[in-house]
Amino acid sequence: MADKDHVVIFDTTLRDGEQSPGATMSHDEKLEIADLLDEMGVDIIEAGFPIASEGDFAAVTEIAKRSKNAVICGLSRANFKDIDRCWEAVQHAARPRIHTFIGTSPLHRAIPNLTKDEMADRIHETVTHARNLCDNVQWSPMDATRTEWDYLARTVEIAIKAGATTINIPDTVGYTAPNESAELIRRLIAEVPGADDVIFATHCHNDLGMATANALAAVDGGARQIECTINGLGERAGNTALEEVVMAMKVRGDIMPYKTGIDTTKLMHISRRVSTVSGFAVQYNKAIVGKNAFAHESGIHQDGMLKNAETFEIMRPEDVGLSETNIVMGKHSGRAALRSKLKELGFDLGDNQLKDVFVRFKALADRKKEVFEDDLIALMRDQETGEEYDRIKVKFLRVICGTEAPQSADLILEIDGEEKRTTAQGDGPVDATFNAVTQLFPHDAQLQLYQVHAVTEGTDAQATVSVRMEENGRIATGQSADTDTVVASAKAYVNALNRLVVRREKSDPNADVKQVSYKDAG
Ligand code: KIV
Ligand code: ZN
Repeated sequence: MADKDHVVIFDTTLRDGEQSPGATMSHDEKLEIADLLDEMGVDIIEAGFPIASEGDFAAVTEIAKRSKNAVICGLSRANFKDIDRCWEAVQHAARPRIHTFIGTSPLHRAIPNLTKDEMADRIHETVTHARNLCDNVQWSPMDATRTEWDYLARTVEIAIKAGATTINIPDTVGYTAPNESAELIRRLIAEVPGADDVIFATHCHNDLGMATANALAAVDGGARQIECTINGLGERAGNTALEEVVMAMKVRGDIMPYKTGIDTTKLMHISRRVSTVSGFAVQYNKAIVGKNAFAHESGIHQDGMLKNAETFEIMRPEDVGLSETNIVMGKHSGRAALRSKLKELGFDLGDNQLKDVFVRFKALADRKKEVFEDDLIALMRDQETGEEYDRIKVKFLRVICGTEAPQSADLILEIDGEEKRTTAQGDGPVDATFNAVTQLFPHDAQLQLYQVHAVTEGTDAQATVSVRMEENGRIATGQSADTDTVVASAKAYVNALNRLVVRREKSDPNADVKQVSYKDAG
């Protein structure tokens, strides 16, 4: 397969994905996701928007330093200060890239209040500046799909002449459709002087549910870079989902004869990790990585599957990193079996860590007849809290609930090593529990999201609870799993509080608060 058939996978989970309100990730979480993307074979990682905050700058710098194979890219608006800051962060990578952009559509041109000529000059100056710093420069006309054709072609030509090596065509508001997406790229390549010397990229948003189709159509039109995120994470309806475009090209190579460097068996694990650290659950029927994507429940389907898996399956679960059976073990399973099952699920544990997890696994197995893979994953997520986030701990909880309001919670928290107890009332057991936490540890954080998912079937199933809290623009997500939903809720709430406290106290007060947005494109 020739190079012209290689489609570059540009992952922007850590930039466009993380920009999604509430999807904020901690520094360590960003590093972990970047490592996983690199190991999976992503060609380019857009690690953040360095000028946006001290936190973004630190994360992009660190990711650049530890990157192994992937090109590390940072985003910058069309001004020298942004571009310099971006270069400061990405220059540590073995293969750095500067990505600079400006909104070219009539609506976006009005924001910096530039005439077409003034904007054209700005593009020339900024791309030239970026190219003087770095030999790998990507330029994007934001809202390209709503930009007048003549002006789009003119600006693309200017960027190419100024030294851009990749031209990205964003469908910023998810407005285009497959035919149009293909045609736009085809026409740019055919008509813009110099187009043959650069790679065209496609960057689609999913507002009309067409991001995957639009990205693949753009490839048909000649684009050779797809910008995407894990689980389609991103603002509003999200971005093109990496797992969808990669599997579509793999499964339908007959009509889409393109190759990527992605090890698809790592898709499931990274999907779960991104879901955990972002606090954005993956919908059950999500293509490729949804819980039901390979589940066959109806009688006809099961019968067909037993005779020949291809009856209803166009790809094998193993292709995306799902093992054949979800049933794992029970209370008689030993430590070695647990270690090997966790390894299969992508968790490689040291001896001490395994010891802790084993104790918790036994406790869970005592409460549940069968422990499934999903239970183990939930257990691992719960384990991840880490000492740093352990300042406040739930020691005891008893709730009184029933038809008679108000419900009450009797709670003991250990705060900085000291136990404190209170009883609080609320509108339901969870509300009462959260009120009790606030009484013992007063705070101003606002609850932004409270989500409960049953990990498996049955009344003994564990509940995974996600809680998102916000304090002065800083957002933290906490998660926990337990067979008791209220206990899981209390622990998730306390976990989010711990994270907020650590961020408030340990970091520069502005470290993870975004100072600018990519929407201020001028
Ligand atoms: O959607 C968009 O236009 C973007 C640009 C910054 C590339 O994310
Ligand atoms: Zn975008």
